[in-house]
Amino acid sequence: MQINSIEEYELAYRKSVDNPEQFWGEIAQNFQWRKPWFKVLSWNFADPEIKWFEGAKLNITENCLDRHLATDADKPAIIWEPNDPEQDSITLTYKMLHERVCRFANVLKRNGAKKGDRICIYMPMVPELAIAVLACARIGAVHSVVFGGFSAKSIADRINDAACKLVVTADGAYRGSKKIELKEVIDDALIGCSTVEKVIVLTHTRTPVSMLKGRDVWWEDEVKHVNDVCPAEEMDAEDMLFILYTSGSTGKPKGVVHTCGGYMVYAGYTFSNVFNYQPGEVYFCTADIGWITGHSYIIYGPLSQGATSVIFEGIPTYPDASRFWQIVDKHKVNSLYTAPTAIRSLMSFGDEPFANVSMDTLRVLGSVGEPINEEAWHWFDEKIGKGNCPIVDTWWQTETGGIMISPIANVTRTKPSFATLPLPGIQPCLVDENGQEIEGNGVSGNLCIKFPWPGILRTTYGDHERCRQTYFSAYPNMYFTGDGCLRDDEGYYRITGRVDDVINVSGHRIGTAEVENAINMHSGVVESAVVGFPHEVKGQGIYAFVIYPEHHSDEELTRKDILQTVTRMIGAIAKPDKIMFVSGLPKTRSGKIMRRILRKIAEGEVSNLGDTSTLLDPAVVTEIIEKAQTK
Ligand code: WTA
Repeated sequence: MQINSIEEYELAYRKSVDNPEQFWGEIAQNFQWRKPWFKVLSWNFADPEIKWFEGAKLNITENCLDRHLATDADKPAIIWEPNDPEQDSITLTYKMLHERVCRFANVLKRNGAKKGDRICIYMPMVPELAIAVLACARIGAVHSVVFGGFSAKSIADRINDAACKLVVTADGAYRGSKKIELKEVIDDALIGCSTVEKVIVLTHTRTPVSMLKGRDVWWEDEVKHVNDVCPAEEMDAEDMLFILYTSGSTGKPKGVVHTCGGYMVYAGYTFSNVFNYQPGEVYFCTADIGWITGHSYIIYGPLSQGATSVIFEGIPTYPDASRFWQIVDKHKVNSLYTAPTAIRSLMSFGDEPFANVSMDTLRVLGSVGEPINEEAWHWFDEKIGKGNCPIVDTWWQTETGGIMISPIANVTRTKPSFATLPLPGIQPCLVDENGQEIEGNGVSGNLCIKFPWPGILRTTYGDHERCRQTYFSAYPNMYFTGDGCLRDDEGYYRITGRVDDVINVSGHRIGTAEVENAINMHSGVVESAVVGFPHEVKGQGIYAFVIYPEHHSDEELTRKDILQTVTRMIGAIAKPDKIMFVSGLPKTRSGKIMRRILRKIAEGEVSNLGDTSTLLDPAVVTEIIEKAQTK
C-alpha cells in the first residue's frame, strides 16, 4: 500500500476518485479482520450517515499488537524518553507491550469496565498512557483522553458529557521543571461527576495523594491481581473506538467520535505513506497523546504498521533547547514529526543547541497543527534536515482522523508552507461565501471535502444534530473544515488558517466563545470579546477586550484575577496574552459584536477597519484604538 513515485501517486489518486470502494477495499486488505465487510461504503452527508467496511469485525489492538508477534515480537514498539534526561529511557517490545495491554485490560474489567463503557484518561506522557488507551480498545471500551493541561472544570464537563464510568490517571506529571498534580485535579473534577465509579491511579511522581475508599485504586496493586491473558473483544467496524473533545466556534467543546474499522485503516495507511515508513526505522512524534496527533500518529498509525514509536514525556526546552536533537541522536530517530510552534521557539536559541549533536539518522521531517511560516520551514529544512530530508507539512483535523493534505515523503515535490496535494481518497474543494465551488487554479476560498474517507468523524457524542450543523450544513453535500485555503497555479494547497471563531494557539484549538464564557464568569466582568492576533512563537495569541467598570479595583490585579479564572475554567493554555479593559464593545445595531474590527485592532491595523457604517456607537471604536496605541 506504499506509494513510491509521483506516477504511482497519480494512479492511486485517480483510482480513489473513480472507484473509491475498490480503492479502499484493497487498502483494507492490508489489515487483519475477524470477518470481512459486505459493503465498503455507504454514506450521505445530509444526515450525515457514514459507514465504512459494513459488517466487518475486528479489534484494532490485534492489528497494533497481536499480528506483529509472529515475526516482530522483540522489535521495539515504544521507546519512552523521560522528562529528566538523567533517568533511564524504557523500551517496550511488541511482546512486552502486548502483555502489558492485556494485563491492564484485565484490570479495567476487574474494575467493572465492559464493551461500550466510556473511560476518561488523564495522564502524563508515560508508556502507561499508551497502555491504558490500547487496553480500552482491547475490551471495546471507549476512551476519552483529556490533555493533561486542562482544568478540573474542563475534565468534569468532558466526563459528564460522555458519562464516563472509570477514570485512569496518575499521581502527577512532570513538564520540564514543573510538577503537575494530576490526581488532585481529578479529585476536584469528580466532585461534580456522578457517573464515575472507579479511579485507577498510576504512581509516577510520588506526590502524596488522597485515595477515596471504594473508588480509588492503585495501578500497581491492581495489576498484581490479574494475569496477562486477555482475548480481544470482537468489534464491529462501526463500533465506537474513542471520543476526543475539541473546540469549535460555539461555547462547549464537542466530543468527536471515531469508530474502529475506518479509523484504523486511515491512520495506518496515512502513516505508512506520508512518512514513507521503512521497517526497522525509529519514528518520533512530539505531540501529546491528549490530542488527535498523538492518537493517530504516536499510537494507532505507527503500531498498526509495526513501527517503533518514541514517546517523550517532557518539553523541547528542558533541560535546554537541545533536548529534541539529543533525543534524535540518542534513539537514532529517522522521522521527526513536530509542530511549527516548537520549531519557532527553538529557532530563537541560535546554533548553540547543535554544538554536540549530529542528527544524521534523520530522513523525514513532519509538521502539523498550524500553518508553518516560510522562515520556520527553511530553518527546519536547513538546520534540522540539512537540506536532505523532505518536510511533510500535514494538514488535517481531529475530525478527519488522519492526515488529509500533505506531501508523501520522497514522492511529492515540497514547497515551503504548502501542504501540497490531497492524499489518495481525499477530494478537497474551495467554496465561496455563496456556497459555489471555485474551480481552477490560482484561487482561494473555504476548504471543504466532497467525498467521505475512512477516517471521517461519524458524529459528535450525544448530539448528532450538532455534528450535522457544524460540519455538514454550511454547504450541502460537503464536509466543511472551518479553514481557509488557497490553491496556487500548479494546484498546490496552502492552508491559511481558520475562518471561524477558533484560534490556533501553539497548535491548540481554542474557541473564542469558550474563552469569553470563562472571562465572563469573573465577578465584575460585564462582557468580553476574544479574538486572535499574530504571535511570533505561538502562531496566534489570544486578545481579550473586557468590559469591566474601572472603579472596582486596580487593573493589574484584575488582569491577574481574570487569567486565574480562565485557568480554572479551561486551563492555562487558554489564558489571554493580552487583556484590554474597555467601556464598550463595537456592536451592530442588532447587538452583534463586530469581531472583524477587533481583529484588525488586535493585529495593529487600525488605519484600515473596513466598513464601519453599521456600528451602533463609533465612539467605542475610537476609545479602543486610542488605548491600543498608547500601549
Ligand atoms: C490547523 C490537528 C495549516 C487547521 C491535527 C485545522 C493546520 C486545525 C495544519 C485542526 C497544517 C492543522 N497547516 N493548518 N499543516 N494542520 N492545522 O483538530 O486550522 O487540533 O483546522 O488537529 O489545525 O486542529 P486539530
